[in-house]
Amino acid sequence: MNFFEVFFAFLFSLVLNAQSYTISQEAPVPVTDGCARIHNEFITKQKTNFSYTDVKDCYQSYPFDKDVASKTIDTLTDLIGGFYSFLDKAKEPPQPGFDFRPMDLIAELKLFRNKSYATLYDFTIDIIHLFNDLKDAHTIFASNCFETFVFYTNMTFYSVVDNGMQKIKVFNDTIDRSNIDCEVTHIDGQQAFQIIYEYANKSVNWSRDLGVRFNIALDHTYAKRSFAIRYEIPEKPDITYTLKCDNTNEFNVKRNWNAFTIRSVLNKFNDSKSYFDNICNPIKGSKQSVSSNHKHRKVTKIFDNVDGILAKQDQSVTTIRIVDQFVEFYKVQDFGVVKIITEQPNTSTTDETIAMFPKVIQGFKELVNTGIKKVIDDLV
Ligand SMILES: *[C@@H]1O[C@H](CO)[C@@H](O)[C@H](O)[C@H]1NC(C)=O
Ligand SMILES: *[C@@H]1O[C@H](CO)[C@@H](O)[C@H](O)[C@H]1NC(C)=O
Ligand SMILES: *[C@@H]1O[C@H](CO)[C@@H](O)[C@H](O)[C@H]1NC(C)=O
Ligand SMILES: *[C@@H]1O[C@H](CO)[C@@H](O)[C@H](O)[C@H]1NC(C)=O
Ligand SMILES: *[C@@H]1O[C@H](CO)[C@@H](O)[C@H](O)[C@H]1NC(C)=O
Ligand SMILES: *[C@@H]1O[C@H](CO)[C@@H](O)[C@H](O)[C@H]1NC(C)=O
Ligand SMILES: *[C@@H]1O[C@H](CO)[C@@H](O)[C@H](O)[C@H]1NC(C)=O
Ligand SMILES: *[C@@H]1O[C@H](CO)[C@@H](O)[C@H](O)[C@H]1NC(C)=O
Repeated sequence: MNFFEVFFAFLFSLVLNAQSYTISQEAPVPVTDGCARIHNEFITKQKTNFSYTDVKDCYQSYPFDKDVASKTIDTLTDLIGGFYSFLDKAKEPPQPGFDFRPMDLIAELKLFRNKSYATLYDFTIDIIHLFNDLKDAHTIFASNCFETFVFYTNMTFYSVVDNGMQKIKVFNDTIDRSNIDCEVTHIDGQQAFQIIYEYANKSVNWSRDLGVRFNIALDHTYAKRSFAIRYEIPEKPDITYTLKCDNTNEFNVKRNWNAFTIRSVLNKFNDSKSYFDNICNPIKGSKQSVSSNHKHRKVTKIFDNVDGILAKQDQSVTTIRIVDQFVEFYKVQDFGVVKIITEQPNTSTTDETIAMFPKVIQGFKELVNTGIKKVIDDLV
């Protein structure tokens, strides 16, 4: 029997909305409903940008629910324990040139069982951070609920080496164009380079190489998230940049983080309850959930040798199951082939996407039941 190298790319994104969640009756009713304030601004002023406080209050209006947390940890532990091929790799210390924290993901998930949080947001963000620490761009924990708004101060940055010193400069500022190309010496009173470097190390998750993460932290076009464009609630409502333009004296520019979103999202809710039903938990709420199609990304063709194998040995290929334009399961001799057609199935609603998952799980089960000894995952 030939020896085949087995490549594996693991892709999943688990949305918290797959969990069922009901707002507990005994839960303290928030004094102010940030989601309702957002709706009001949208209706009365036709605004699509909102204050930091409104969005923070909206996101944080859902109390922590131990049951949801426990189910989430169960799901993640099963998924990771069953399917994450890099579980052992993640425990190894970084090779020279890489910078990340080695971790035992299953053990870390276990620690969450005893943690308590004020809100569902805090819990979700903590889990997102845990997965970010893997620095594995193909393994993320995402939340439909808490990535609706984008925080932005209308300023973007770049970095240059100037007289042997790496500096941060203003790439664009749509509020005050005269700031463009000025040096950013400090951010909130600390060395600008250091602040962005630390942000890159901590919050950017696309690469195990810190240099690459630093570039991504400054590249506001890359995945539309960077130091300047945030999805997570920034630590405070504003940020102060200290600028130095053409050898003039330094001066401070204080900016608020404004939160932007799109009308189609704003049309879906008028208070925190409807926000939850229609955005966080579309299965329970409106059937018109956020389309997964706009997120549809073409996956890079990583390798095509499996197709070669399939073609050559066509006679011995058994089709186990085809999950529409998403994942296909085959058996060839004593190994199984899982062909992942796309990272984002071609469905028009989140409901349809979620409906595909049981079929995928069934495909894996059927493959296992054929008695295969190895699996090749083919990322088309
Ligand atoms: C929305 O954006 C406008 C223009 O960019 C700005 O003047 C206003 O302060 C912003 N509103 C909020 C609530 O952030
Ligand atoms: C990057 O973060 C890790 C922790 O995740 C830390 O161990 C490491 O020292 C940091 N690297 C730098 C250069 O700050
Ligand atoms: C959780 O707490 C219980 C008792 O409070 C303790 O027995 C258990 O070891 C803790 N588990 C973890 C994973 O820390
Ligand atoms: C981590 O990476 C994924 C893409 O692999 C992205 O969707 C996610 O938002 C990233 N998280 C952060 C905090 O940048
Ligand atoms: C800066 O932003 C403005 C407004 O969005 C845009 O027209 C301009 O092209 C941008 N400049 C650069 C260098 O990207
Ligand atoms: C700030 O950026 C947003 C998003 O690009 C834009 O809609 C808004 O007009 C900008 N504000 C100003 C004052 O340029
Ligand atoms: C809010 O939206 C719900 C449907 O999502 C509707 O039943 C309710 O009447 C609306 N309330 C207000 C004040 O508009
Ligand atoms: C997605 O589905 C639509 C309608 O079924 C079809 O027209 C389109 O070609 C499909 N796209 C891909 C990438 O398969």
